Amino acid sequence: MNSIQLNNQGHLKHFLDIEGLNRKLLIEILDIADSFLNIDTKAVKKVPLLRGKTVVNLFFEPSTRTRTTFELAAKRLSADVLNFNINNSSSSKGETLIDMLRNLEAMHCDMFVIRHNAGGAVTFMAKHVAPNISIINAGDGQHAHPTQAMLDMFTIRQNKKDFAPLSVAIVGDILHSRVARSNIHALNILGVSEVRVVAPKTLIPTGIETFGVKVFNDLKKGLAGVDVIMMLRLQRERMKSALLPSPYEYFQYYGLTESALKVAHPDAIVMHPGPINRGVEIDSRVADGPRSVILQQVNNGVAIRMAVMAMSLGAIQWTQ
Ligand code: CP
Repeated sequence: MNSIQLNNQGHLKHFLDIEGLNRKLLIEILDIADSFLNIDTKAVKKVPLLRGKTVVNLFFEPSTRTRTTFELAAKRLSADVLNFNINNSSSSKGETLIDMLRNLEAMHCDMFVIRHNAGGAVTFMAKHVAPNISIINAGDGQHAHPTQAMLDMFTIRQNKKDFAPLSVAIVGDILHSRVARSNIHALNILGVSEVRVVAPKTLIPTGIETFGVKVFNDLKKGLAGVDVIMMLRLQRERMKSALLPSPYEYFQYYGLTESALKVAHPDAIVMHPGPINRGVEIDSRVADGPRSVILQQVNNGVAIRMAVMAMSLGAIQWTQ
């Protein structure tokens, strides 16, 4: 296990990365999330597990789903939530991450949920934070997005029950995707039968096969017979050079249309972490169609984030 993520008693302390975690812990997170799933149907949509705790959302990059579902998750656990506006903070005046951390620590907060555009920045902060504070990675650069991967695993389990027989295709901008990296680790740890990555050669990182995936450059070959399709957004903001002729041409070859979907298993589900680019990586008829579980993923994000936050602050304990 990745020791920085566990405290001296072997309990989850920080949630930074899927890599290095084991199957038992991932299943525990899914099971605890299950227990939180129906809380939004209750008259009082709250449990008191984090009453008296303060959670700070520190988002150095834009976010819709992740930031709001972390906030909702913290509030449903009865924590107090501070949404820190980075644009109005002293980091825009040159304050270092460590100085910012020391100042927030001085306010006796209990958890920082951090998104940062630099891979490794969140682990760096976890290594330097005061011992009483937990850090959750809400996505760092091209490195990891572990709660996204867990909500994706949760959605797959809701729809497919057993991981073992599944063939999963991850399609699109693998090169720049922290979601792809975290999902590849999670799927392999949970023991799916096959993980495929499907993309043009320019969007596949060299050596990706060593992560236990099969590489396809042809969409229909890559989708043939799969049970789960995970579409990814083209991250043009991270592309340093022209890796593709045009979004229009990308859609012709790699866009998920109803025609392309026909080659997958008839019960295949379609996933996307969002934000979706309609007509670039996915056709609206598929994104809004009966196989799409995209909004189910968003809803599951609250339960998964409640589980990870409650576990990391010791409100629900898990022992290796
Ligand atoms: N999936 C995801 O991380 O979406 P946001 O960028 O909106 O948080």
